Amino acid sequence: MDKRKILIQLDSDAQASVFDRVVAIDAGADEVFSYGAVKPEQVRDLVHGAIFTRGPKDLKNTAIFIGGSNVAAGERLFQEALKHMLPKYGLRVSILLDPNGANTTAAAAVRAASRHLNLKGIPALVLGGTGPVGQRVARLLDRQGADIRLGSRQASRAAAVCEAIRSKCAGAALEPVGTGSAIELADALEGRILVIAAGAAGAVLFPGEARAGCPSLRLAIDLNAVPPLGIEGVEVGDRAKDRDGVLCYGAIGVGDTKMKIHKAAIARLFEGNDQVLDAEEIDQLASAF
Ligand SMILES: NC(=O)c1ccc[n+]([C@@H]2O[C@H](COP(=O)([O-])OP(=O)(O)OC[C@H]3O[C@@H](n4cnc5c(N)ncnc54)[C@H](OP(=O)(O)O)[C@@H]3O)[C@@H](O)[C@H]2O)c1
Repeated sequence: MDKRKILIQLDSDAQASVFDRVVAIDAGADEVFSYGAVKPEQVRDLVHGAIFTRGPKDLKNTAIFIGGSNVAAGERLFQEALKHMLPKYGLRVSILLDPNGANTTAAAAVRAASRHLNLKGIPALVLGGTGPVGQRVARLLDRQGADIRLGSRQASRAAAVCEAIRSKCAGAALEPVGTGSAIELADALEGRILVIAAGAAGAVLFPGEARAGCPSLRLAIDLNAVPPLGIEGVEVGDRAKDRDGVLCYGAIGVGDTKMKIHKAAIARLFEGNDQVLDAEEIDQLASAF
């Protein structure tokens, strides 16, 4: 008989996320072992506890989820966990990185866009592109061959992020753009068909008055659910809502697909003991929705 499915939740926050725990159970985990305030130096022993308890053929029923609200901290835990697997001896477990929902949210946003547009060569602008979600949106748009402008209030910050993405995604069509002033934003919007706003909660990145300067716009996706929203004129619950010829998605409108992707990613962990799910792998799962 198959062993019970155990998900080991490693969270950098003081208390491990209840949200991630509930989703794990709904996605098919039988048990969730939750660890909060996890530091990189504690990860080795936690991974050893996961890989040394069951025989290699049963390790597909143990998996690791890396969460927490701090994406950079989650990335460090993820890298540390990978370091301590022993694949040479079959002693490894599958692992999923989704701190702050960054990977599943970015995948859901790009999936929403691909329902309406062929993204190959599409002129796109990612506002708030320097944040963890925006960076992942840019990476995933690049996988689809989009022509991407990545925006920041400071062009130098956008340039640094584009450089970092290019180091992972060779040949990415990425142009850093400043969006801090109305003039810069107008230039960044020029000729864009798709805009995805991944700015900080409660920050307006695309005010209504800038819309007139972007007649090419066909699809606007805003991931900020906290008023005021990131794209003026888009409502948080919009799901392919046509507003003056522009299809709009708000954060809740994207959230349904995000939840499906999140659950599918957890389920995928238990299909084998060799899954390593970061943005690109999660994006592949998103194509089912
Ligand atoms: N629906 C979901 O399940 C879900 C899950 C995760 C995240 N989200 C939402 O997705 C969005 C992006 O998340 P994140 O964690 O990547 O965001 P973040 O790191 O807080 O912010 C993203 C970027 O926004 C810009 N920014 C910060 N403050 C700003 C301000 N006052 N005005 C204009 N721009 C500002 C910054 O870029 P520059 O400084 O370079 O301009 C920053 O890098 C957030 O709104 C978040 O709430 C939704």
